[in-house]
Amino acid sequence: MENSLSSHRLVLLLSFSLVLFLNTELSSLASAGGTNKNTKVYIVYLGEREHDDPELVTASHHQMLESLHESKEEAHNSMIYSYQHGFSGFAALLTSSQAKKISEHPSVIHVIPNRILKLKTTRTWDLLSLSQVPTSSSPSSVKGLLNETNMGSDAIIGLLDTGIWPESEVFNDQGFGPIPKRWRGKCESGEDFNATVHCNKKLIGAKYYQKGMMAEIRGKRKYMATESREFKSNRDAIGTVRGGAPRARIASYKVCWHFIGCSVADMWKAYDDAIHDGVDVLSVSIGGRVPEDSEVDQVAYVAAFHAVAKGIPVVAAAGNDGPGAQKVVNVAPWFLTVAATTLDRSFPTKITLGNNQTFYAESLFTGPDITTGLAYLELPSDNSTDVKGKTILVFDKPFLEESVAAAAVILAQNVPDEKYPYILTSYEHGADILQYIRTTRSPTVRISAATTLTGPPAAAKVVAFSSRGPNSVSPAILKPDIAAPGVNILAALSPLYPSGHKGFGLLSGTSMSTPVVSGIIALLKCLHPDWSPAAIRSALVTTAWRTSKSGEPIFAEGSSEKLADPFDYGGGLVNPESAADPGLVYDMGIEDYVSYMCSAGYNDTSISRVLGKKTNCPSPAPSILDINLPSITIPNLDQEVTLTRTLTNVGPNNSVYQAVIESPLGVTLTVYPTTLVFGSGEVLSYAVTAKTSHKVNTGYFFGSLTWTDGVHDVRIPVSVQTKIMNKP
Ligand SMILES: *[C@@H]1O[C@H](CO)[C@@H](O)[C@H](O)[C@H]1NC(C)=O
Ligand SMILES: *[C@@H]1O[C@H](CO)[C@@H](O)[C@H](O)[C@H]1NC(C)=O
Ligand SMILES: *[C@@H]1O[C@H](CO)[C@@H](O)[C@H](O)[C@H]1NC(C)=O
Ligand SMILES: *[C@@H]1O[C@H](CO)[C@@H](O)[C@H](O)[C@H]1NC(C)=O
Ligand SMILES: *[C@@H]1O[C@H](CO)[C@@H](O)[C@H](O)[C@H]1NC(C)=O
Ligand SMILES: *[C@@H]1O[C@H](CO)[C@@H](O)[C@H](O)[C@H]1NC(C)=O
Repeated sequence: MENSLSSHRLVLLLSFSLVLFLNTELSSLASAGGTNKNTKVYIVYLGEREHDDPELVTASHHQMLESLHESKEEAHNSMIYSYQHGFSGFAALLTSSQAKKISEHPSVIHVIPNRILKLKTTRTWDLLSLSQVPTSSSPSSVKGLLNETNMGSDAIIGLLDTGIWPESEVFNDQGFGPIPKRWRGKCESGEDFNATVHCNKKLIGAKYYQKGMMAEIRGKRKYMATESREFKSNRDAIGTVRGGAPRARIASYKVCWHFIGCSVADMWKAYDDAIHDGVDVLSVSIGGRVPEDSEVDQVAYVAAFHAVAKGIPVVAAAGNDGPGAQKVVNVAPWFLTVAATTLDRSFPTKITLGNNQTFYAESLFTGPDITTGLAYLELPSDNSTDVKGKTILVFDKPFLEESVAAAAVILAQNVPDEKYPYILTSYEHGADILQYIRTTRSPTVRISAATTLTGPPAAAKVVAFSSRGPNSVSPAILKPDIAAPGVNILAALSPLYPSGHKGFGLLSGTSMSTPVVSGIIALLKCLHPDWSPAAIRSALVTTAWRTSKSGEPIFAEGSSEKLADPFDYGGGLVNPESAADPGLVYDMGIEDYVSYMCSAGYNDTSISRVLGKKTNCPSPAPSILDINLPSITIPNLDQEVTLTRTLTNVGPNNSVYQAVIESPLGVTLTVYPTTLVFGSGEVLSYAVTAKTSHKVNTGYFFGSLTWTDGVHDVRIPVSVQTKIMNKP
């Protein structure tokens, strides 16, 4: 404990150097095209590259900027980034009239103002290994997947977040083979980060992006008074990452800064680089807000589309704004969007009060057991209570800044949150402890070392903070896609992190569950290198768990607990071993994303530019219900609708599948045909008719559609809302 307390002081002290760092950055920016106070950062999106040679791509960007400026030099200085590898575009400091003028250029698809998105927790990290992903049905075959893929040793996971703490044991590369030959990325040295020393066969890439962020905060004083410490390098002031695939290589792209967030201009450059560098999967624990950023969701996330179009799955956080409806972010159909559950694993710590009452709480306290005085702190500013050397009880707010003299902190709150407690307990237990403190002259507490408890009674639940559907931008596209553990993840932390214990801490957030899924995808890509991002998503969604080992349903936390539905967890809780052998997949190619863009209102000219080839939207425009997602969501069923889906056999030759329907309440689903016989690799379609018997508008009811061959159950969630149109 002393460890973390002293490192806590360190965080406070270090905050001063950030101010210096910002001041120098800002003055250098002022001379680099930032002289005009009326300029803002704009992102100019041009679609697919027109040249293979990145130099030519950039030259064309400079040319476009020259048309706006009086001198070549001014044009060059206004550019912040040229996106030249994965797609074409640039970020530049422009006045609003320059932005308007360039948007009229025939090659321009969109000009959007730069935005600051949020990291979907204050911390990003992940599991120690795949064996700690919930293993309700059969732990041994998870090891089987790790074994078959040599623990993911050929896979490269790209992470877009706040960077890493390179000395962490998780980046030890002992026993790693050579770096895969296709890797074209690099490690960049910077503040407290020496590429020669810190990069190795595990950590193979490390870059940082700040130009967009710096341009954004020019002159904004409020950011200078920040208390965070930031390193001008890939090094994160707070955390580090551990891959779910133990041998997978990590390439870290630092685009988020704790004091402000993640600038879209910087993120696009990271996508541009990652596509060039050769990552196999991208893990993006970042998102906007809905509904305010709907438009940004659509345009700002087109960089992710280019990654997916090039075969790189992009795994994104659903967000931490639950449990209200329609808060899920990263809703474009090319993302694999991840919700957070609790882990079926916990670290119970026994708390024994002086009156021998005992409770179990969560912590990573490794002992030896301590006995201390016990006090309650109502307000952070409460200085009348002597907390020195005592364990303090707080509700909701850890306010650890004030607790430096305390021996330990018990945090009581109802809803797990992005908090980082020493010892976490519920309101109910907190109230009992408080009662004891108030009725006892010298209250004491004994805290025992945490033990690890796996499986029941620690069942998985979708956590309250995990953002829920339905999708507020395109309601027919189910989001989130899947859920993975994101609460109280044992994570490797930076020693600067205030509440970790010996470099480890318990962390929560959908950005914790995102890298878990990325690690699983890394393993699946080793096993099935030819699977598209959509095929991988389908394999994960159709095999996900909806019950625990004992057959108990998975619940969702909220104001009260309820059965989880597709808007909480998509297909369910990720099940890595079954995803390796799904039988059938709902695959999607470029043409399916084009259908989506057509139905979302992009015209032929724009879509042709996005793809870099002549493309026409079919006429009449395709129905968004027909997009080949591994889910069916009908947001406004009036009487009856028929939609289609297409399945690809990735299992054995001559597989015979039967449809099994679980209709939503008041809705009749019929499938045609009801039997499908697949040859090896064969692609077959079927139709689904949904008919409502409701006479009034309803909310959503849920069901499922499963194709089964007796071995594989290929299940998709079905969500239907009846909306009777007013007819004249
Ligand atoms: C996979 O399992 C086999 C058989 O148990 C073993 O010989 C082999 O070493 C394992 N491979 C890895 C990478 O663990
Ligand atoms: C990085 O580390 C290498 C090897 O220890 C050393 O030679 C080099 O000078 C270091 N670079 C910097 C910038 O400190
Ligand atoms: C608590 O338990 C210990 C050991 O079992 C015992 O010695 C002590 O008297 C108990 N205290 C109270 C207040 O019951
Ligand atoms: C407690 O805080 C108040 C208000 O900030 C201050 O006036 C007082 O001197 C403090 N008392 C102690 C014991 O530090
Ligand atoms: C296509 O959309 C773009 C951007 O919205 C617009 O500028 C252009 O005029 C449209 N083209 C056609 C043929 O409608
Ligand atoms: C699949 O089985 C059929 C006969 O049922 C056979 O003609 C065909 O060659 C098989 N295809 C493959 C790829 O084995």
